Amino acid sequence: MSRSAELARLIRDRAGDAPPEYGLILGSGLGHLAAAVQGVAIPYSELPGFPHAGVSGHVPQLVVGQLQGRRVAVLGGRAHYYESGRADVMRLPLEVLKALGTERLILTNAAGSLRADLPPGALMLLSDHIAFAGTNPLIGEPSEARFVPMTDAHDPTLRAGLKTAAEAEGIALPEGVYCWFSGPSFETPAEIRAARILGADAVGMSTVPEVILARFLGLRCAAVSVITNMGAGLSDEAISHDHTKAMAPLGAAKLERILRRFLGQGA
Ligand code: HPA
Repeated sequence: MSRSAELARLIRDRAGDAPPEYGLILGSGLGHLAAAVQGVAIPYSELPGFPHAGVSGHVPQLVVGQLQGRRVAVLGGRAHYYESGRADVMRLPLEVLKALGTERLILTNAAGSLRADLPPGALMLLSDHIAFAGTNPLIGEPSEARFVPMTDAHDPTLRAGLKTAAEAEGIALPEGVYCWFSGPSFETPAEIRAARILGADAVGMSTVPEVILARFLGLRCAAVSVITNMGAGLSDEAISHDHTKAMAPLGAAKLERILRRFLGQGA
């Protein structure tokens, strides 16, 4: 049996057989939504091969249960490329979601903004992304399936559902392009200017490898950024991980309302 099938069996034994309708990956400072799920929490340390998710602001556990009447599987912590140099570090958790029968994935992250109309505390729905980190989580994958089409990687139907939910909550959810930088250092002002010229609206250190892996596995996905700061050089505020964690709750409360409405409306 494959590792993901074994882990899926372990999770089903503890959390029940019904396939989660949605997988959710929670970004820096956004982890508390996992606490709202009525279900079973399994620390990553009990799931062999799951990443240790060593970045503060993340809660490394999988929670399977009900949220707004839907069965969900929440990955409370993610591992990043910059922790290990492995862009495929989230492959096993995503394979496990797939093995559990999950077909849809909502990703969240904290990001820096390149647009004056997206200040700290704003949300941005990813319309598309740029894999600027220059690597790919499918490097080394031997099967022909590695040639994944990425048109509409950010699923139009899921995006429409999230926009409807945001409108119903009276929360602005503009769309934009997210540019993946490897981190862990933040960008220079010149890199931020370059990203803007390339067509990006926000920058961050996650999500893109997970979207590529999710599309490889056939999961439909959509992602939302919580803007925690203006990109380097665009404002006087100092950029730091502490600042990211401090600012994430500003947008996280709005994001939680959108996600609850989205799940409840049955998109
Ligand atoms: N750059 C990259 N990642 C980030 C930022 C940023 O400015 N803010 C939050 N995550």
